[in-house]
Amino acid sequence: MTRRRLDGVQAIVTGASGGIGRAIALALAERRAGLILTARRPNELQVVAAEAERRGAPPPTVVVGDLTDAGLRQRLADAVELTDKPLDLLVNNAGVSAHGLFADASPERLATIVDVNFTSTAELTRLAIPLLTGADDPAILNVGSILGHRGIPHNSEYCASKAALRAWSEALRAELAGVGIDVVLLTPGTTNTDFFSHLIDRQQDELPWGTPQGMPPEAVARAAIRGLERRRREIIPGWRAKVFVLAARLAPGLMDRAMRRYGG
Ligand SMILES: NC(=O)c1ccc[n+]([C@@H]2O[C@H](COP(=O)([O-])OP(=O)(O)OC[C@H]3O[C@@H](n4cnc5c(N)ncnc54)[C@H](OP(=O)(O)O)[C@@H]3O)[C@@H](O)[C@H]2O)c1
Repeated sequence: MTRRRLDGVQAIVTGASGGIGRAIALALAERRAGLILTARRPNELQVVAAEAERRGAPPPTVVVGDLTDAGLRQRLADAVELTDKPLDLLVNNAGVSAHGLFADASPERLATIVDVNFTSTAELTRLAIPLLTGADDPAILNVGSILGHRGIPHNSEYCASKAALRAWSEALRAELAGVGIDVVLLTPGTTNTDFFSHLIDRQQDELPWGTPQGMPPEAVARAAIRGLERRRREIIPGWRAKVFVLAARLAPGLMDRAMRRYGG
């Protein structure tokens, strides 16, 4: 099978104002991608758009708003239609988390995390499917997490949202194969972004196991681009993430016992 060409593709990147989304947007910019960038923080998005242009992309379209707003999702679809070109790539990257025990947390915490990380992501994808259908070699890149393979305490809502994203990606991959849209799952482990300062709720300063060593977001983005080009179904960047996913698959009982130490 030939490699997927990403040069000059038209792509939507959600959560492009920082971290992994910013790094993926800039890696695509180096391939002169036409970018539609979205997130809530306008200033940060403008900085990323300017840097993308400096790296070779045509002037990106910036669409500011909350992914959970149906109006924002429609504006993203409209932005694609305004270009008169099909959508080649949808990068579903926006995400949030919280730290603390489920029993002590609010219903709003569960609702927000599932909405941003799963429901609104799926709804944006529903709008994007007809726009992707006209492209030569279209793909959807869903940014999951190793915690979509294995739930851990103090992160229950986040783990559930990423497990949902993973299962939905598998189902969608089969549903969209017939129309030639590929669905790829990116499964990062800890990544050195501002993710942990953006938590929507934090019941303790530090998780019981501390902060594991993370990868730079640029390395995660490079793995994502390479995996897309090589038509991988799932991309797991770095050895730590690979070991975690393998242990989750092969030794769930051992993982259960290890995790129990960190419960309430
Ligand atoms: N960092 C890690 O260790 C790690 C590990 C595995 C997976 N991931 C996943 O990687 C993805 C990116 O996270 P990151 O590490 O790059 O963290 P980040 O720097 O906090 O980036 C999250 C992005 O999502 C956007 N976002 C959050 N809520 C939003 C909302 N309601 N509407 C629109 N945009 C929203 C943020 O933009 P605004 O604030 O400007 O809206 C930001 O651009 C997430 O899906 C995360 O779950 C991260």
